[in-house]
Amino acid sequence: MKELIAKLPKAELHLHIEGSLEPELMFALAQKNNITLPYKTIEEVKNAYNFTSLQSFLDIYYAGANVLITESDFFDVTWAYLLTCKAQNVLHVEIFFDPQTHTSRGIAFETVVNGITKALQKGEIELGISSFLIMCFLRHLSEEEAFKTLQESLLFKDKILGVGLDSSEVGHPPSKFERVFAACENVGYKIVAHAGEEGDSSYIWEAINLLHVKRIDHGIRCDEDATLVEFLIEKQIPLTVCPLSNVKLRAVSSMREHNIINLLRKGVLVTINSDDPAYFGGYINENYEAVANSLHVSQEELKLLAQNSFKASFLSEAQKQHFT
Ligand code: ADE
Ligand code: ZN
Repeated sequence: MKELIAKLPKAELHLHIEGSLEPELMFALAQKNNITLPYKTIEEVKNAYNFTSLQSFLDIYYAGANVLITESDFFDVTWAYLLTCKAQNVLHVEIFFDPQTHTSRGIAFETVVNGITKALQKGEIELGISSFLIMCFLRHLSEEEAFKTLQESLLFKDKILGVGLDSSEVGHPPSKFERVFAACENVGYKIVAHAGEEGDSSYIWEAINLLHVKRIDHGIRCDEDATLVEFLIEKQIPLTVCPLSNVKLRAVSSMREHNIINLLRKGVLVTINSDDPAYFGGYINENYEAVANSLHVSQEELKLLAQNSFKASFLSEAQKQHFT
C-alpha cells in the first residue's frame, strides 16, 4: 500500500502554507528575525502540538506564523513545502494563504504574495509542479476587514485564483460573509470555503447556497443530513478532506471512525489532503497511509481518491487529462 500511495500521481487542494512551517524552519526564522518564541527547543514545540479542538490549534498556529516577516521567509516556507510535494509525487497544488494573519502584524500584502508566488514559479520551472494560489479570509474577523482584504488583493489578481474562508468555524457561519463572497464572484475569483469541519451541516448548506462555493473544505459533517449527501453526489461538489487533521483536532474520535471511505463509496467526490502538515504529523502520503491502514481501503479506491484530487481541482479539462 505504502509503495502504491507513494507512486500515485496526486494533487493537493487543501493546504495552508502557514501550516507547512516545520519547527526547524520556525526556529531558524525566529533567530534570523529576532523573534522570541514561547519554546526553548524543537522538542518543546512538538510537545505543544497536542490539540483538543480547532481553536486550541489555531492559537498555536497563528503564534507560529509570527516568525514570517520578509519576502524570503514566505519564499522559504513555500519552497520547503514544494520539495516535499516533489518527494511525494504531488504534481499539482492549490494552496491557501491567510493574508490577514500577516497584514494585521504590519507585513505588507505584497511581501506575502510575492514570496509565495516566487517559490511557486520556481516550483513550476524546476520541479514541474503546477500550482494555484487561494486567499482565505479569517472568519473570526469582521466582514469589513474581509472587504478590505479583498480590495488589497485586487492589485495581485493575476497571482490569485480564488478565495476561501478559514479559522474558527462555530459562531462564524458563511452567511456572515455572503456580501464579501458575492463581490469576490463578481471579480472572477473561484470560491471555496471551510465548512462542516466543526460546524454542523447547516454551515455546508450556507457555503453552497449563499457563497456559491465550487468545493467544500473538510465537509465531513455532511453525513448528518442525508439530503445534503444526496445533493453533494448529484452535483459532484468536491470535499477536500484532511484525515490526520480531523483526528488531531478531534473532529473525529479516531481514524477508524472517519467517514471518508463511506462517503467515497456512496459517490461523494472526496479527496485526501494534509491541511497543516507541520502541525498534524503528516503530508499527503501520510494522510493516504493513515486512511489505508485504518479503513480497509482497496487499491482501486486509493487510485480513485488520487484521480478525484485532479477531478476536483481548478485545472482545465485539458490539464486534468494530461495529469490522469
Ligand atoms: N486554518 C488552518 N487550518 C485550518 C483548519 N483546519 N480549519 C480552519 N482554519 C484553518
Ligand atoms: Zn484547512
